[in-house]
Amino acid sequence: MEIKSLFSELETLKDKGKYEFEGWVVSNRGNNKITFITINDGSTIDNLQLVIKNELNEAFATDKIALGSSIKVAGELNLTLGGKQPFELLVSSLTVLGTVAEDFPIQKKETTLEFLREIPHLRHRTKLFKAVMLIRNSLLFEIHKYFQNHGFLNVAAPIITSNDGEGAGETLLVDDETKDYFFKQKAFLGVTGQLHGESYAAGFKKIYTFAPTFRAENSHTSRHLAEFWMIEPEVAFWDLKKIIPFADNLLKTAIKNTLKNYKSEMEFLNSLDTNNSLLKRLGDFINKDIFVMDYSDVINELKKHKENFEIQDIFFGMDLASEHEKFLSDKIVNGPVAVINYPKEIKAFYMHQNPDNKTVAAFDLLVPGIGELIGGSQREANYDKLIQRLKELNIQQEPLQWYLDLRRFGYAPTSGFGIGFERLVMYVTGMSNIRDVIPYPRVSGQIKM
Ligand code: 4AD
Ligand code: MG
Repeated sequence: MEIKSLFSELETLKDKGKYEFEGWVVSNRGNNKITFITINDGSTIDNLQLVIKNELNEAFATDKIALGSSIKVAGELNLTLGGKQPFELLVSSLTVLGTVAEDFPIQKKETTLEFLREIPHLRHRTKLFKAVMLIRNSLLFEIHKYFQNHGFLNVAAPIITSNDGEGAGETLLVDDETKDYFFKQKAFLGVTGQLHGESYAAGFKKIYTFAPTFRAENSHTSRHLAEFWMIEPEVAFWDLKKIIPFADNLLKTAIKNTLKNYKSEMEFLNSLDTNNSLLKRLGDFINKDIFVMDYSDVINELKKHKENFEIQDIFFGMDLASEHEKFLSDKIVNGPVAVINYPKEIKAFYMHQNPDNKTVAAFDLLVPGIGELIGGSQREANYDKLIQRLKELNIQQEPLQWYLDLRRFGYAPTSGFGIGFERLVMYVTGMSNIRDVIPYPRVSGQIKM
C-alpha cells in the first residue's frame, strides 16, 4: 500500500488490518525494548511510523538501520487518531533491502540549496525536494487534464528542427551544414513548439504541446534555464480577447486542484515561505479576475515609480526589464497582471500587427516574485505583412516558407501562448531559484549528469 492512500482513506480504514509497505528510512529512535522508525515512500511528504517491540528489535537489528535505507515491512495498523500520527504500524516483519554507506550526503541536519544543487541525483530524498517534485507532477497532470477535458489535441512538436521559431538567435546547435554531421544541414534544438503547433491548429482547431524547449541564454538569473519545459496551446478562430481568459482559467484550475490534492506539501511549503504567505497569494489569485493592462499604461505607471529602478529611463518602446515586471505585479497591481499591446519592435515576427502600426496583439502574464510566466499573442494572418516583418528583422524567409504557406492554405487566424512550466512550479511552490524546481537543471557553462 502507498502511504498517501493510507492518509486519504483514513476514515474508511479498519483498525488492526494487516498491511505491507516499502520505503526509505527518515528517522530511527528508541532502544532494545521499543523502536520508532519513520519511513517515506515518495507518494506524499507524510511519513509512516513503524513501531518495533521487544525481541523483534534484536531480530531485525533495528539499531543498525541508518537514515536513507530502503526497507520492506509488514504488520498491523494501529489507529492512533488524535495522536501526533493518525496511525502506526506494529511491525511483524522487516527486511532491509538497501543499506546506506557512511558518505550518504543527505543527513538529518539542514543543508543548503547550493549544496543540494551539486547532488541532483540525491536531493529529492529531502522533504523539500520531495514536496517540490510532487507539486511539479501534480501541475503537469492537471494541465494535461484541463486540455484533454476541453477537447485539445496534444501535438508532439519536433525537438530537433531546422527553424529558429522565435527568430531571436538563441538556438542550441545540433548540426551545422559546414561539417559532415548527421543531418547535413542546419539543425537546432527547438526554442518553441509554436510554429509546428500552428500548423496543427489549422485542421484540429485546438491543440497544445507540452515538451522541453531549449535556449542558449547566457543570462545567469534565477529564472532562466537552457533546457526548460513549455506548454503551448494554439487555437484557431480565437483572438487575444479569447485566449487571455483561457490562460487565466487554466492556471486557476490547475493550481486549485493541486492545492486540494497536495495539502500537506502545500502547507509545508507555506511554512517555509517568507511571512508564510504562499497559500494566501495563491488563494488571492484563484479568487480574483485577472487584471489586464495596456503596455502604454504600464509605461506611464512605471514612470511614476522611477526611483525604485536601476534602469530609470522608462519610455514607450522599451523592453521591460525583470525589475519593472516584478514591480508592476508585486507593488502596483499586487497580483498577476496581463500586459497587452506591446510595441512590435520588441516582439517576435509572427505576432498580429494592430491597426495603429505600432503595436502587436501580444500579452505577457506577469506574476509576483517571478515576472513573466506566460508569453502569448494573436498571430499575424496577413502573408505580405509577415514577409515584410521578416525583412525588417533580417530573418531568412526560405526556412520559414512552409510556415508562411499556412496563410495560403485555408488559414483561420489563431492565438496561443507559452507557459514556462518551471516558472509556474516556482510560483506555486514559492521556490526562488528555477534550478530547484527541475530535477536536472541545465544552464550555460554547467551540465551535471
Ligand atoms: O515568451 P516566450 O519566449 O514565448 C514563446 O516561446 C512563444 N512561442 C509562446 C507561444 O506563444 N506559443 O516564452 C514563453 C515562456 C515565458 O513566458 C517564460 O515563462 C518561459 O517560456 N521561458 C523560460 N523559462 C525558463 N528558462 C528560459 N530560458 C525561458 N525562456 C522563456
Ligand atoms: Mg516572452
